[in-house]
Amino acid sequence: MEKYLINGGRKLSGKIKVESAKNSVLPILAASVLTDEEVVIENCPKIADVTSMLKILNSLGVKTRFDEDSLIINASGILEYTITETLSKELRSSVFMMGALISRFKKVKIAYPGGCDIGLRPIDIHIAALKSLGVSVTEKEGYVNCLAEKLTGREIYLDFPSVGATENVILASVMAKGKTEIKNAAREPEIVDLMKFLNSMGAKIYGGGTSTILIDGVESLSGSTFKPIGDRIEAGTYLIATAITGGEVEIKGIDVKNISALIHKLCDNTCKITIKNDIIYLKSGGKGKAFSFSTGPHPFFPTDLQAPATALLSVADGVSVVTENVFEMRYKHIPELIKMGADITVKGKTAIIKGVERLHGASVTSFDLRGGASLVVAGLNAEGVTEVTGIKHIERGYFNMPQKLNALGADIKRIN
Ligand code: EPZ
Repeated sequence: MEKYLINGGRKLSGKIKVESAKNSVLPILAASVLTDEEVVIENCPKIADVTSMLKILNSLGVKTRFDEDSLIINASGILEYTITETLSKELRSSVFMMGALISRFKKVKIAYPGGCDIGLRPIDIHIAALKSLGVSVTEKEGYVNCLAEKLTGREIYLDFPSVGATENVILASVMAKGKTEIKNAAREPEIVDLMKFLNSMGAKIYGGGTSTILIDGVESLSGSTFKPIGDRIEAGTYLIATAITGGEVEIKGIDVKNISALIHKLCDNTCKITIKNDIIYLKSGGKGKAFSFSTGPHPFFPTDLQAPATALLSVADGVSVVTENVFEMRYKHIPELIKMGADITVKGKTAIIKGVERLHGASVTSFDLRGGASLVVAGLNAEGVTEVTGIKHIERGYFNMPQKLNALGADIKRIN
């Protein structure tokens, strides 16, 4: 069984280059089928979720190839509008193909998406919004069938600022007739990136990053060469990993305002942080102090950094209170942290973390992407060796995590 063996207790020090944001690249890959012209995604991370998304595109007849770090996509030969259950189940981002294929073909047949098991993750908000655009939706035997005579823009209100639903509506309305206005849209930086990518293809989208997004439908879209933003969650994970080891790190390629909630909390944890353009420099202040936070839609503390931050707080000085407001099952890493000596009590959405002096190595299992990352973070601090299994989850979203951490002085072996 594949696993990481982490020999803890070593201070991290050095420089890290983060990849392009997984949660930008995935909807951008879906958007790439909206044109017959060539699309080039620069600095595309070779993570498992991208591989899964490329399998979906290839199954539709889309040509894709890597030229070093650039991914070249040509959807002129796209034939299919059906995505099989096997492919849909591999990741959550298959859901973006609904909006993209409706735009392209006015129809799509797709099985319910997969993704991290961090909650029910329904797609009711997606479906309600697509219906508002004139799409008829039937659900049968685990498949969602969508059909639209034509797509007509209109005002759409999202019951929750869902990232995926916001992106799906943008994809479905970008070539609809007239204007679409999304109210209560998600404000994540990855939404802004999707808007910039589509606008570079000739779309007319305004207001990305605010809770009201306007899409003025256009006739067609052209090809584009685009470099997505840096992965703020990968960057945040490595900042936390450095803090828990008492080290120092320089991270380049991130707009710090995209993770300002974490930056503020790391300062409370006694880290010294300086920013110079797109470089974040963090120096640990030694034994960290407890801090509390609640996750929520951007610009709240990102739910994707809740698990890594919980690992940091398990060895902070004092008691921290963490509330996970976005997903209802995002504490699966906590029993594993407890095996490593953490003192954490979960009551509903809230985790109460009493900091201990130090964690100890144990054999732990990762059940989802960010929960797995939190176990690696914990292992970096722990006395002795920590064995992390279930690393396939981690490698869906972190490219070369052991190599990047070992370059900073960690001692992680990947056992195949
Ligand atoms: C995106 O997931 C990200 N994934 C997630 O990152 C991230 O945690 C999440 O946004 C929140 O920021 C990608 O971008 C590929 P949501 P998504 O729709 O779109 C509920 C990671 O670790 N909801 O904003 O699925 C839902 O159940 C991953 O990189 C409905 O009820 O998130 C959840 O409780 C994990 N009905 C909440 O809204 C719907 O139709 C937020 O979900 C849609 C969502």
